[in-house]
Amino acid sequence: MKIFWQDERLPLKKEFFGKRTPSFLEIGFGKGHFLEYLLSFNESAVGIEVSKEMIELVSKRLSPYTERLFLFHGDARFIIKYVLPEMIFEKIFLLFPFPWPKERHKKRRIYEGDFPKVIWKALKEEGKFYVVTDEEEFLSELKERFLKDGLFSESEFEEDLKEKAYQTKYAKKWKEKGKEIFSLCLKKNQKEFFLEKRIKITGKPDHFLLKSTEFPEDYMRKEEDRVFTLKQVFSSESGMIFKFFSKEEDLSQTLFFLMEKKRNIILRPLFREKTVFTEWIMQNIEDFFRIK
Ligand SMILES: C[S@@+](CC[C@H](N)C(=O)[O-])C[C@H]1O[C@@H](n2cnc3c(N)ncnc32)[C@H](O)[C@@H]1O
Repeated sequence: MKIFWQDERLPLKKEFFGKRTPSFLEIGFGKGHFLEYLLSFNESAVGIEVSKEMIELVSKRLSPYTERLFLFHGDARFIIKYVLPEMIFEKIFLLFPFPWPKERHKKRRIYEGDFPKVIWKALKEEGKFYVVTDEEEFLSELKERFLKDGLFSESEFEEDLKEKAYQTKYAKKWKEKGKEIFSLCLKKNQKEFFLEKRIKITGKPDHFLLKSTEFPEDYMRKEEDRVFTLKQVFSSESGMIFKFFSKEEDLSQTLFFLMEKKRNIILRPLFREKTVFTEWIMQNIEDFFRIK
């Protein structure tokens, strides 16, 4: 089972998944019972979860499927748009997404922005997107966004899939509370459009050579919807550690760098394997440490 990617260039190539390209994707799989059902079809599957706890739990529980289950930790909106190859999935499932019910949080709901286009790109021709929720308003707004511009048409939600999708942890929870469950299946139409990708992913740097150990006390840069801030600086046995926060579109990351002073002054990214480096991050690191 591959969790996350290491040094591969993004977006990943189909070959990342080995002989069998995955047919199914589940967004926000929680305890992973529906993902387990998908694996019973003897196909490969991808699951995306923002909760690290769920990733750990499901990777242990579904370890027998190590050859054909691929779990990604992070925000599905970023991972589908920038990490996964295009046009690979036959079916994508979104079961009981957290709908941000409060009016002031509406903008954060998953269907906002370019999400319909992102799902469209991830699906094969005639691929389908399945949604199940206890929130009728959430579903009708999602449907409106997906049918707009003719990207998708409403389609049949097969009974066997629906039966299983109505048995997830959250399905059971809401049914016990007497809530009604709503579902929708959308089929991809033929369409031409442009999907803007504003995040520019770069290679992963191994280290930077610094000219001095000086750095500013505060640092915060904001441009449109991008942010980069210095959060903390602390000393360790190996040198000074810098903690930054970076956000672009749906990619939020906490970054750590170690400044070592030996013969040269060297800056090394920590947890490099888990970090997505972008032009925005590189530009801010260069400005902060006056690298150029
Ligand atoms: C209400 S739970 C439903 C879990 C499961 N699908 C079920 O039906 O039992 C919503 C899940 O979606 C995950 N989630 C929410 N937003 C996400 C996002 N943007 N990307 C990936 N996972 C997300 C949460 O961590 C949580 O596990």
